[in-house]
Amino acid sequence: MEFDIKNPDLAPGGRLRIEWASQEMPVLQGVYDQFVAERPFAGLRISGCMHVTTETANLVVALQAGGADVMLCASNPLSTQDDVAASLVSHYEIPVFAIKGEDNETYHKHIQAVLDHKPNIIMDDGSDVTSTIHRDRRDVMEYVIGGTEETTTGIIRLRAMAADGALEFPMMAVNDALTKHLFDNRYGTGQSTMDGVIRATNYLIAGKVVVVAGYGWCSRGIAMRARGLGGNVVVTEIDPLKALEAVMDGYRVMPMSEAAPIGDIFVSATGNINVFDGHHFEVMKDGALLANSGHFDVEVNKVALRNLAVSDPKRVRPFVDQYTMKDGRKLNLLGEGRLINLAAAEGHPASVMDMSFAGQALSAKYLADNKGKLENKVYTVPEEIDQRIASIKLQAMGINIDTLTTRQQQYLNSWQEGT
Ligand code: ADE
Repeated sequence: MEFDIKNPDLAPGGRLRIEWASQEMPVLQGVYDQFVAERPFAGLRISGCMHVTTETANLVVALQAGGADVMLCASNPLSTQDDVAASLVSHYEIPVFAIKGEDNETYHKHIQAVLDHKPNIIMDDGSDVTSTIHRDRRDVMEYVIGGTEETTTGIIRLRAMAADGALEFPMMAVNDALTKHLFDNRYGTGQSTMDGVIRATNYLIAGKVVVVAGYGWCSRGIAMRARGLGGNVVVTEIDPLKALEAVMDGYRVMPMSEAAPIGDIFVSATGNINVFDGHHFEVMKDGALLANSGHFDVEVNKVALRNLAVSDPKRVRPFVDQYTMKDGRKLNLLGEGRLINLAAAEGHPASVMDMSFAGQALSAKYLADNKGKLENKVYTVPEEIDQRIASIKLQAMGINIDTLTTRQQQYLNSWQEGT
């Protein structure tokens, strides 16, 4: 079996952590049991390009239990948990191509390795595999039934491809499932981003001005948790509706040019480039922290930051690079501008990834079940999958809810009843 990981000796610790995460993933456990019974992926190859974490390990193990021949590579050069990669290889016989801190060349080599597997189903996180197949690995196209996409960023790319008529296989927009973005993007990103900032710096958040760029689901979660830790949160937006919502949620809202000189901690999750740019760095306070929680490392303009600095940055702590400006101010870039929650912390906790990855697994099953019947477009996850995930999650949490009485059902279905 071919693989490329940091160190196989890390496997025992990885296995303990994978098992620890699995206790918080009851919905995925239910899917695992279903897959063991039904073997929906018998004879199919699945290549995942995802963050190699304890939660992803539980997902790929469920796919394997469903009969899939699975391979995994990293969807980010800094997010791999090397012990997890080692355990997947040693204990589960799943080939993994991922090393924390790998350079860009190795990152792309690892994507090529999982494509050499000739996947029937791809699982993408950020759309790198989908675009690589369409651009450079057209030899793989004939094997692909379809794929799933985990992120907002990836789905924006996929929809652009579909609009251009360029998408050549069906893709399931897992991110757009309600049981995904309402929980993973909000509560997962919110908690894990602040966890990453704190683990990297050991800063106290209380009393700090925390500038959160964007007010999508991820940024909402970050703003909420930063406020919960005592931060004085400022939100920046380009969308009037989201900006209004942030105002009514009680945050100060202003343009980045006004936030830049007052912020202590800057976090971006917009999905766009140069959110923190040269003219912002010129006015930021000495000691400011710059972090990104958007998918790609483009939100902090690293080239502008380096050009304004007197020298290469100094690594003052793991995941903290200090840039000294010409006037002596020091700006601290966290996690090389990559997803701070996965670079400096462990990503979203298992309890939210439980729902996201149950959605991934069931969407992959949907692709397998509907092989040859789907069009080359972006599909939303069927509502019954969302409902099932939410119901099982509630059940696992020991929470019962009401059901409509027949009379209430009648009332909702009627247009004649009113005053
Ligand atoms: N994305 C965010 N958090 C994650 C995690 N824990 N595992 C996999 N992908 C993630």
